[in-house]
Amino acid sequence: MWFIPIGNEFVAEVTGIDLRAPLDAGATAAIHAAMDRYAVLLFHDQPLSDDEQIASTRALGKIELNTANNVTRLDQRRLGIEMSDISNLDQQGNLLARDDRRRAFNLGNQLWHSDSSFKAVSAKYSLLSARIVPSAGGNTEFADMRAAYDTLDPETKAAIEDLITEHSLLFSRGQLGFTDFTAEERAKFAPVRHRLVRTNATTGRKSLFLSSHIGGIVGWPVPEARALLRDLTEHATQPQFVHVHQWRQYDLVIWDNRQTMHRVRRFDESEIRDMRRTTVAGDAPTIEQVQAA
Ligand SMILES: [Fe+2]
Repeated sequence: MWFIPIGNEFVAEVTGIDLRAPLDAGATAAIHAAMDRYAVLLFHDQPLSDDEQIASTRALGKIELNTANNVTRLDQRRLGIEMSDISNLDQQGNLLARDDRRRAFNLGNQLWHSDSSFKAVSAKYSLLSARIVPSAGGNTEFADMRAAYDTLDPETKAAIEDLITEHSLLFSRGQLGFTDFTAEERAKFAPVRHRLVRTNATTGRKSLFLSSHIGGIVGWPVPEARALLRDLTEHATQPQFVHVHQWRQYDLVIWDNRQTMHRVRRFDESEIRDMRRTTVAGDAPTIEQVQAA
């Protein structure tokens, strides 16, 4: 297995491995080490079945189940509970209607985010498999949150070091004007807390833990918090920190949600885009949660 850095050095292309075969201990260790060094790994020509993708994911850690990630009801699911359906299809394989609320909700993926940052234990890795790609558009962009942190001025680093943010799907969707949540969804998507600056336990490197799911900073007036978060996000997503991935069918990309943000770009939704994600769960919360009274 070879790792070839591409783009701006936090992305590597991996060659010499077939992910349809079980990952042995050596391959697993090499991938973990490369994830810490880079943060995004690209594997071309991996025509995986769902079961093969799930097996590769389990080899890398505990799999995160897709139970509270969106507004798609369990009886509307197209894929198993281990998979996140990042497509524009319904359970029958038909394109979602323009005004379908599931589609409206999924448009939130066009905002910069870190997967499952709205959970108390946010995601470690995401593995996204391209099964059907549109003829144009639909790129995924990645931003390196370590480089973004490193290039902050010392005053800003000191000011944000101990800040705690509040994350919820209600906040990210609210930015696009999607607010018609049911009472049950509002309860399911109640905000969780995370540190704004987090440290990779293996490498010791710090990163900005930003996400469009953030709606506030604990102890701060909301407009002041959102102004700072907008400023930091603008800094962190400058072109020198961003890699654009143009998908080919059967690409698999693995990214570290603790050290990067990502977003999908627009595409013609009269074409099918069938992407399937599995997720390696995080190890622990970044901060203790406050129990609701
Ligand atoms: Fe995502």
